[in-house]
Amino acid sequence: MAFLEIKQLHKRFGGLHAVKDVSFQVEPGQIKAVIGPNGAGKTTLFNMISGTFPATSGSVTFQGRELLGKKPFQVATLGMARTYQNIKMFSGMTALENVMVGRHVQSNAGFLASMFRMPRTWKEERDIRDKSMELLGLLEIEEHAHIDAASLAFGQQRAVELARALAMEPTLLLLDEPAAGLNIYETAEVGRLITKIRDLGITVLLVEHDMSLVMDISDEIVVLCFGEKIAEDVPTAIQQDPEVIKIYLGEE
Ligand SMILES: Nc1ncnc2c1ncn2[C@@H]1O[C@H](COP(=O)(O)OP(=O)(O)OP(=O)(O)O)[C@@H](O)[C@H]1O
Ligand SMILES: [Mg+2]
Repeated sequence: MAFLEIKQLHKRFGGLHAVKDVSFQVEPGQIKAVIGPNGAGKTTLFNMISGTFPATSGSVTFQGRELLGKKPFQVATLGMARTYQNIKMFSGMTALENVMVGRHVQSNAGFLASMFRMPRTWKEERDIRDKSMELLGLLEIEEHAHIDAASLAFGQQRAVELARALAMEPTLLLLDEPAAGLNIYETAEVGRLITKIRDLGITVLLVEHDMSLVMDISDEIVVLCFGEKIAEDVPTAIQQDPEVIKIYLGEE
């Protein structure tokens, strides 16, 4: 049984087939990347996996459980967290508070239970704060814990976003363009942080345009083009794949 298995996954928006019968697997402990030109269907694929919107057909099984038909919070409860293509910091909140939000989501897994125990105990609140602080430490931004998250540099905001996703205690992390908008130094930093997360035993599936990052950190790469999977292999093989070279460099 694969850790995450995507089978014949298909998404149609009216007449547009955004994702066409895509199948691949993710093994535990891997960093797997999905690449492809703009509009290839990468985010659509993530949206179906995380329950953001329904698939037209196909299946997604996570540790043997079918995910299609589940709501995003149900998918999250099973151990999958995600970040979004555009940084979404809650402004007016510190870096620490942003991470604590992710932790509250996790601890709300037993939503009814916590409702009957209201108000949340002081100890619970302190545990959430401690754990969130620990995650900021892991992502090497604890000195910015009490700064308004929206005023941090993009690279630091990205680290806060990763900490917030980790606060949900995922076993699988979906990252949609973690290096978008970052300079080359910040990109290298984020790459190092993603590797650090993988080394904790968390499996990573990422969409990314930055080829140097993808080639550096991925164990395997899936290439999408106009919704179809055109290649799947290790980075060195993908770099030499004639069809992949053609779509990235054009026909000339
Ligand atoms: N909600 C939607 N309704 C209609 N069409 C959509 C919707 N979401 C995406 N699409 C279309 O589906 C196709 C795939 O889009 P998607 O956002 O998945 O691409 P992508 O590979 O993530 O691109 P990028 O690299 O630019 O982020 C595009 O043609 C897009 O316009
Ligand atoms: Mg996208």
